[in-house]
Amino acid sequence: MSKIRAAITGIEVFLPEYRLTNRELSTMVDTNDEWIMQRIGIKERRILKGDLATSDMMAAAAKKLLESTHTSPDEIDFVIAATNTPDMWLPSTACIVCDKAGIRNAWGFDLLAACSSFIFALETVNKFVESGQYKKVLLLAGDKMSSIVDYTDRNTCPLFGDAATALLIEPTTEDVGVMDHNLHADGAGAPYLNLKAGGSKLPASYETVNNRLHYVQQDGKTVFKYAVSNMADVAVEMMERHSITPDDLAYLVPHQANLRIIDAVGRRMGLPPEKVMINIEKYGNTTSATIPLCLYEWKDKLKKGDKLILAAFGGGFTWGSLYLKWAL
Ligand code: UT7
Repeated sequence: MSKIRAAITGIEVFLPEYRLTNRELSTMVDTNDEWIMQRIGIKERRILKGDLATSDMMAAAAKKLLESTHTSPDEIDFVIAATNTPDMWLPSTACIVCDKAGIRNAWGFDLLAACSSFIFALETVNKFVESGQYKKVLLLAGDKMSSIVDYTDRNTCPLFGDAATALLIEPTTEDVGVMDHNLHADGAGAPYLNLKAGGSKLPASYETVNNRLHYVQQDGKTVFKYAVSNMADVAVEMMERHSITPDDLAYLVPHQANLRIIDAVGRRMGLPPEKVMINIEKYGNTTSATIPLCLYEWKDKLKKGDKLILAAFGGGFTWGSLYLKWAL
């Protein structure tokens, strides 16, 4: 019997309308467009305004996806919401999105793995689909990073933006879909990138609020160093494992945290710049959404069977690469 793999058979995105430009940021903290463009490569990022949450973005993307793939909400049998900014601790954002999108026959949960959330979730879905029991899976990936970013901290506030994506994943026995993975999690990285308060270790108190501990914090230089070496190592390893040359590979689809990190990884893989998907300038680091946002924007250029390597690095530390053959 041929092997069952998970294939992406539909993809939609939701981008908030509001654009926070470098010019506006420079009125909020001591920064400027030149520094941000040179050190990070971001021009603007989208911000979700008003009384809206991650589930609203995900539900909007999910509804578009159901429509564009002609899928009834009743057909969805499993849902994963990859996010670091759930609407609340309980219930899961997956539950809330199911309700908002009219999905009644599925079960599911949230998956939190910082900037690696999407690739961790895609491999998790792959394993469920491989079992043969799941036929139409909804993979949601998105974050309202503006809800955990400190807009008085110039070290972090230029980096992040808000967005959500929704993907339909179905089984295939063709030679496409998720081919292989190389994923890692190492809590020794915890001191360098974290959000300290609001969990069981440091529940919310006046003190945690006064000390601004409900915002994401990082030691940027250390994270940068590990991001470049770990992302490049797993991406190169994936090429070697499958004897993929730079000519064979259609694209590297990297997590979008910093243009300098992306360029360094592409160079280590021996890729020309046109084989690296980059849209960080328009959206910044949307955490769980960066990789599917790239896939969405490049989908018209992709052909069935195109070889892609997805690579990410983030808090945890978590990192890894996935080898995917495009199925659409
Ligand atoms: O996706 C999750 C993983 N996260 C990442 O991958 C992020 C990894 N880290 C980075 O991308 C970079 O480390 C940053 C973009 C966060 C910072 O860039 P850097 O080149 O590492 O800068 P730095 O922190 O070493 O700061 C260099 C200088 C400092 O000034 P002095 O001490 O040299 O006078 C900072 O105070 O730049 C200053 N600086 C800024 N200047 C203008 C820091 N932030 C800013 C800013 N505008 N926004």
